[in-house]
Amino acid sequence: MAAFETGLLGDGGDDTNRRETAAKQSDAAFQPPALGAIPDDENGAAIRRGMAIFLNTKTNAGDFVGNDLACVNCHLDAGRKPGSAPMWAAWVVYPKYRSKNGKINTMEDRLKGCFTYSMNGQGSPSGGPPPVGSDVYRDLEIYFRWLATGAPTGEKMKGAGYPKLKKTDIGYDPARGAKVFEQNCASCHGADGQGQRDINGRIVFPPLWGSGSYNWGAGMARVNTAAAFIKENMPLGQENRLTDQQAWDVAAFIDSHERPRDPRQTGSVEATAKAHHGGESYYGKTLNGRLLGTGTSGS
Ligand code: HEC
Ligand code: HEC
Repeated sequence: MAAFETGLLGDGGDDTNRRETAAKQSDAAFQPPALGAIPDDENGAAIRRGMAIFLNTKTNAGDFVGNDLACVNCHLDAGRKPGSAPMWAAWVVYPKYRSKNGKINTMEDRLKGCFTYSMNGQGSPSGGPPPVGSDVYRDLEIYFRWLATGAPTGEKMKGAGYPKLKKTDIGYDPARGAKVFEQNCASCHGADGQGQRDINGRIVFPPLWGSGSYNWGAGMARVNTAAAFIKENMPLGQENRLTDQQAWDVAAFIDSHERPRDPRQTGSVEATAKAHHGGESYYGKTLNGRLLGTGTSGS
């Protein structure tokens, strides 16, 4: 540490220290600007509106929210946290191709995706995501653009997305995951996974399954994505404490519960499973004698 500090001072340190310092600097995640740096003009007003939508999505874009979640529940620290799909890293790589819908996606297309699936737009007052050109997209985009101030354009940045988690030798198991959940998650998310509200009815800890959660079409409904998110971000305040095995098992436990239907489903669960659910999803599988994917009531 002392050698590192000498290097930081610039003069006096040998070349090794300087090289180490440079390496450490380029290793550090990008820092979005401080909140105090939001300008006091029209741009600043839009940035604040975008941030408000991101933090309190139901209050500020409630027409398009069909569950009890907010953007910030899965993109932590107002979309700033590395390893929780931060918005500064997303901003600089769109438009971009996505295999999920087989086309080049603009940022608006991508946001439409999170509203459709993660926010369960089908259950909202408007019955879907914000329409093309909605101010909700504009305000969110200007907020992301501001977060990305000074970021290199078009580069996959360190801290982007959720870091992938390697599969383990023994695979994942919801029954083992139930124990992990009880010991590490239930205190906040509730023994029944339905989260907790304060006395005013505001969500304090978000639900993990059931009608208030993300739907079957969401990225988080895939065990690999949930495992990666959980390992890097949960238990809140104790990130990376779970072993990889625990993260996979508890992700399998959560994602083998019923949740709002996949909005892409027009025919049977079986047909939708074939069309859209290859890979690590319990959709269309039968567990403990129950077919998963039929949806929660009301949506
Ligand atoms: C239930 C969790 C969840 C919620 C709620 C959620 N998202 Fe996402 N979001 C995801 C997942 C999962 C991904 C894919 C992450 C990855 O690629 O590793 C994602 C990806 C994104 C991306 C692209 C990131 C990238 O690096 O390409 C954007 C932009 C985004 N979300 C915005 C939003 C906005 C805005 C909201 C609120 C309207 C929202 N999300 C709500 C889970 C969620
Ligand atoms: C100390 C309380 C706490 C603990 C313990 C905790 N979480 Fe969370 N979790 C939160 C909060 C709060 C959020 C929303 C984060 C935000 O909005 O900043 C969250 C968000 C989530 C999300 C994404 C949003 C959603 O509802 O789908 C998942 C998935 C999740 N937690 C899973 C877990 C798992 C699995 C565990 C146990 C390994 C766990 N959490 C332990 C507090 C906690």
